[in-house]
Amino acid sequence: MKRIGILTRDCAGVNACVRAIVRAAIAKGIEPVGFFRGYDGLMDDDCKIFDRRAVSGILSLGGTVLKAARAIRFKTKDGQVKALETIKKNNLNALIVVGGNGSLTGANVLHQYGIKIIGIPATIDNDLNGIDTTIGADTAVNVALDAIDKIRDTATSLERIFVVEVMGRDCGYIALQVSLAGGCEEVILPELEFDIHKLCEEIAWGRVQGKASWIIITAEGKAKAADIAKQINQLTGLETREVVLGHIQRGGSPTAVDRILGARLGQAAVELLIKGETGKCVGIKNDQLVTVPLEAAIKPKEWDVTKAYALVKSLT
Ligand code: F6P
Repeated sequence: MKRIGILTRDCAGVNACVRAIVRAAIAKGIEPVGFFRGYDGLMDDDCKIFDRRAVSGILSLGGTVLKAARAIRFKTKDGQVKALETIKKNNLNALIVVGGNGSLTGANVLHQYGIKIIGIPATIDNDLNGIDTTIGADTAVNVALDAIDKIRDTATSLERIFVVEVMGRDCGYIALQVSLAGGCEEVILPELEFDIHKLCEEIAWGRVQGKASWIIITAEGKAKAADIAKQINQLTGLETREVVLGHIQRGGSPTAVDRILGARLGQAAVELLIKGETGKCVGIKNDQLVTVPLEAAIKPKEWDVTKAYALVKSLT
């Protein structure tokens, strides 16, 4: 193994992972080549050889030094052929793709073409299957929680109902974690049915008991904060406000958890390639390094949402 290419999507902790890949590769005599803007860079041959110093001082930076893009062209046969040409032209023996569901779906496509490839899970959504967590999820939960704690201050003072929308298209991981950590009264999840009438009955009953404020979390993929806030106002007559946390959840300096995860998975990916492994996603399960076939990792995440949801409700 002489040369490997690296592609990324953005979220906190990806830079720690790039640093680990570059340094682990160089230590094994492999030349790391960074591609800019993910699959766009691979199709357009936009890349640079990284030395040890190229990844100095990036551990605490959010985002990705390699930049990222939603590379729509890569979904076409033409785009895939261009990517294969770049791999050949640059004499790459293998690729490491750091990203979420879309990026690892792309990695699985290249795997089908016979390219040696390892995927590293990095997405705030934590929606990859067969592993406990993804790079970026811990930072996103902490960023969202910080905002929710602040919203709690004003919600309590003004005795209002707040509906807060967090990211998560198909997976309610961020929503559930911040609800547990922030003591939120309700959480609306893509994985579970939701009944607005039941919630409004709970609010009305709570009001009679003297409860004054609520924070309701909704995952963006299930319901919009503005719609829920409007319905609560219409059904209860109480004042509501909505907040959409949006892309701030994908930024910020990575937590120690995400930096360490990035370092562990980056180094492991290089070692797996050296051992001849391919078509796998490397992750952590029960604090052990594991590999999951790419095609399994990109399937809907199987996890116990019902139990965690019951805990949120039992504590409010
Ligand atoms: O997949 C990560 C994610 O941040 C999702 O939570 C969100 O739905 C999506 O990306 C937003 O994508 P974009 O930045 O392209 O708008």
